[in-house]
Amino acid sequence: MTKRYPDGTVAVDRLSLEIPDRAITVLVGPSGCGKTTTLRMINRMVEPSEGSILLDGMDIRQQPVNTLRRSMGYVIQNAGLFQHRTILDNIATVPRLLGWTRQKARQRAAELMERVGLDTSLAKRYPYQLSGGQQQRVGVARALAADPPVLLMDEPFSAVDPVVRKGLQDELLRIQDELGKTIVFVTHDIDEAIKLGTMVAVLRTGGRLAQFAPPAELLSAPADAFVEDFLGADRGIRRLSFFPSEGLELQTSPLIAIDADAAQLAGRADAPYVLVTDPDGRPLGWSEPDRLTAGAVDREQLIDHGRPFVPGTDSLRTALDGAVLSPTGWAVAVDGDGRAVGVVSQQVIGEAIRAAHRRVTHGAGVEAAR
Ligand SMILES: Nc1ncnc2c1ncn2[C@@H]1O[C@H](COP(=O)(O)OP(=O)(O)OP(=O)(O)O)[C@@H](O)[C@H]1O
Ligand SMILES: [Mg+2]
Repeated sequence: MTKRYPDGTVAVDRLSLEIPDRAITVLVGPSGCGKTTTLRMINRMVEPSEGSILLDGMDIRQQPVNTLRRSMGYVIQNAGLFQHRTILDNIATVPRLLGWTRQKARQRAAELMERVGLDTSLAKRYPYQLSGGQQQRVGVARALAADPPVLLMDEPFSAVDPVVRKGLQDELLRIQDELGKTIVFVTHDIDEAIKLGTMVAVLRTGGRLAQFAPPAELLSAPADAFVEDFLGADRGIRRLSFFPSEGLELQTSPLIAIDADAAQLAGRADAPYVLVTDPDGRPLGWSEPDRLTAGAVDREQLIDHGRPFVPGTDSLRTALDGAVLSPTGWAVAVDGDGRAVGVVSQQVIGEAIRAAHRRVTHGAGVEAAR
């Protein structure tokens, strides 16, 4: 569709997209590129100048606008809460409009508070008594209240700090795993788009579609210089997030437990460093073998082991990050309980990256590993 505002501004120009069911589609692009206009055409807050939107094959203009909007939750920046209503009543708004009894609507609202990670003790507060991140959660809960199949989200997390924002993103992915909504999510942040999107539509100024692809494909094959520039300079590193780490060959010989005796150490001291773990096997840090001859370990003297990765769960990017963060150049692999299962060198990770690139260029595709 196309949207031309009365003053002649072309906000959206012949945009054509097929938005997949039960997945998150992200619209991303610079300010003024028509993201909000596009989103609002979906719930008919804005009418297109040309073209149409089909929902499950049916033109959205064929149903009453109120029915349409009730099938679509809508979340905006700063949550847009009703300031004179309690948190519980904010969330219960749409069920009440749908004629649910007050009790049933409030019960549903309380359930949703838990679902979005809000303590129900906040139910009787007013929006101004909540933090920005908590208010955003209320906004999400309110949009989900009548269990609509579609969720439209317009920069819902952009007014909060990076830590809270990451929490909200993780929460949205978790909720989406449970509920399987069809979500259209607007952001101008490419990292957020890559993290959340099953499909990402990159728009350029003037409301033109630059590329519509899964995140891994955007990173590996940007359609043009605009998309490449928008993805930023570290596209190669970020692409590694989509390569699984499970194929990495781990070495176990430099692992050593803190209660090991000196004789044991001597037999294994062929590596320049040994990884010292606590008696449960959780990594503490690296040491040069000859510094451990007394059998005791001075934890203060250990060298940082970087952030460990879980093979198969974490991506090659996490593994590489661990190796780069540690002065020894080795990344530490741990199991789900945080116990060291082996180590892997930068060289081995580098080889795995080259192999992954070869697989992709030979058309085997990229397996997503968030
Ligand atoms: N009611 C309106 N009348 C005229 N022009 C408008 C109107 N609403 C938006 N526009 C223009 O349409 C273009 C797209 O606006 P839109 O709000 O969709 O962009 P956006 O991608 O959401 O931007 P941002 O990232 O800043 O929110 C802009 O040039 C904007 O100035
Ligand atoms: Mg906008």
